Amino acid sequence: MSTSKSTDVLIVGSGISGLSTALLLPDNINILIITKDKLEDCSTAWAQGGIASVLSETDSYDQHISDTIKNGHGLVNKDIAKLIIENGPLCIKWLEEIGVTFNCDNQNQLNLTLEGAHSHRRIAHVNDETGRIIHQKLKEKVLLKKNINILSQCQIIDLISTKTNGFDSCIGAYIFDKYNQNVFSISADKIILATGGASKIYKYTSNPRTSTGDGIAVAWRAGCRVVNMEFIQFHPTCLYHPQIKSFLISESLRGEGGKLFTPSGDRFMHKYDSRAELASRDIVARAIDHEMKLNDYKNVFLDITDLPSNFIKKRFPKIYEKCLSVNIDITRERIPVIPASHYSCGGVMTDVMGRTDIHNLHVIGESAYTGFHGANRLASNSLLECLVMSKMCSKYITDGDIKKNHKTSLPSWDDSFVSDSTEKFIISHNWDELRKIMWNYVGIVRSNKQLKIAQDKIELIEKEINEHYYQYTISNDLLELRNIIHVSKLIIQSAIERKESRGLHYSIDYPKISNKYQKNTVIKGRKNNYELKLVKFRV
Ligand code: SIN
Repeated sequence: MSTSKSTDVLIVGSGISGLSTALLLPDNINILIITKDKLEDCSTAWAQGGIASVLSETDSYDQHISDTIKNGHGLVNKDIAKLIIENGPLCIKWLEEIGVTFNCDNQNQLNLTLEGAHSHRRIAHVNDETGRIIHQKLKEKVLLKKNINILSQCQIIDLISTKTNGFDSCIGAYIFDKYNQNVFSISADKIILATGGASKIYKYTSNPRTSTGDGIAVAWRAGCRVVNMEFIQFHPTCLYHPQIKSFLISESLRGEGGKLFTPSGDRFMHKYDSRAELASRDIVARAIDHEMKLNDYKNVFLDITDLPSNFIKKRFPKIYEKCLSVNIDITRERIPVIPASHYSCGGVMTDVMGRTDIHNLHVIGESAYTGFHGANRLASNSLLECLVMSKMCSKYITDGDIKKNHKTSLPSWDDSFVSDSTEKFIISHNWDELRKIMWNYVGIVRSNKQLKIAQDKIELIEKEINEHYYQYTISNDLLELRNIIHVSKLIIQSAIERKESRGLHYSIDYPKISNKYQKNTVIKGRKNNYELKLVKFRV
């Protein structure tokens, strides 16, 4: 029989959203953060570019809002964009207060960089490892707090809900302890999912292995609506090298003057957009994809050799080092790059406090859909959204009424009827299979036929894995596979419903944007059966 824990606030995920929210909540609230690997195994720690915010006198909120709206192709929620962008400078100040030192010029003014589709230099950064430094500072602060406990190697399985006054209310979660290989339940007054995006469901990705859409999958299974899942952002430039997987070549290299070339040595971006290499991400990624497919190239090249060698080494030390480790000297040679899945613009429907369709359940960061990114996220707007939503969510919880020392007894996890699998290869095989299906059939360019093929193939995988889930003891890989299956299905269903091309969703069957589809794709949540009344809920 499983054990049970209890806390005031349960935060699932240890990236910028989870850690900032924990720090912003008052000291008299007991917080438990669970993370499925180590604290730093999150997309935040991999973010290179920086945080977009209005930080120079020549820039303005209106211009940042206008760039965000234009880039989101008609689907950005203007009120949310205004709220997030106008809170940006305060969030940057907060990061400085906790010890983040952004790059500055000789006059001690922030040195702001440029990225695609921004009309101004407005990206605050720490060389090319902004996310790692921010995460390190947040982690240092979190570790000093007595009211914050951390359980690493612990993975959420599902949420537990009940009906209160006719409303669904979240009361806890089942957690798989990877280290001890057992399951426990946690009851909490508030649960915050901050588990990041789902880019790992694609064969090529810029994300860490933890990006398996766990928060989106568990919230959807608990009954939350998910929105705009078809808008998966492919970053145009991931390093293409057999020895290094999932390494981003930051957009700021193009911001500082980097140019794209075909393997035959021709520039091509001006054929697709007058902004060339600094067009929005959807356009650059699609142009590269087109050139690669048309000419059967394995990759294209990014060239920054025109920049002074000292500048490159100082401004992009991590990228320089990483490429040099495989004998590519970026001060003298072009960098082989391909597009790779990078960011989930859709997610769990939330309001400005991160509230969802289920009482006491909040979702923030990349797992959430707030309406800020629309059909295409503007570069470096995501860390900004995470910070502002952490602030909004923690304020809502602080101002509200936390029920302390509540002790809801949750149904124990009953796995007395399952056995150990003798066919573990099924998990790894289907993991690989699913990632290839998503890359080949649900990638940068889509068609009705390909989406249908992907849907059918994933149905079969789902059937096999469902049986496995109900019959055998669980593992980390099995839980993640279950989540990526559900998230893939949501992406495909959303892509099928959007019969047009807009932003990050491009269909060869509907190559034009259509007014009829200037609306969000909303998919209803599935209701899982982990309600209090059930005991043998896995059958
Ligand atoms: C990059 O450095 O290119 C990534 C920035 C982002 O995705 O916002």
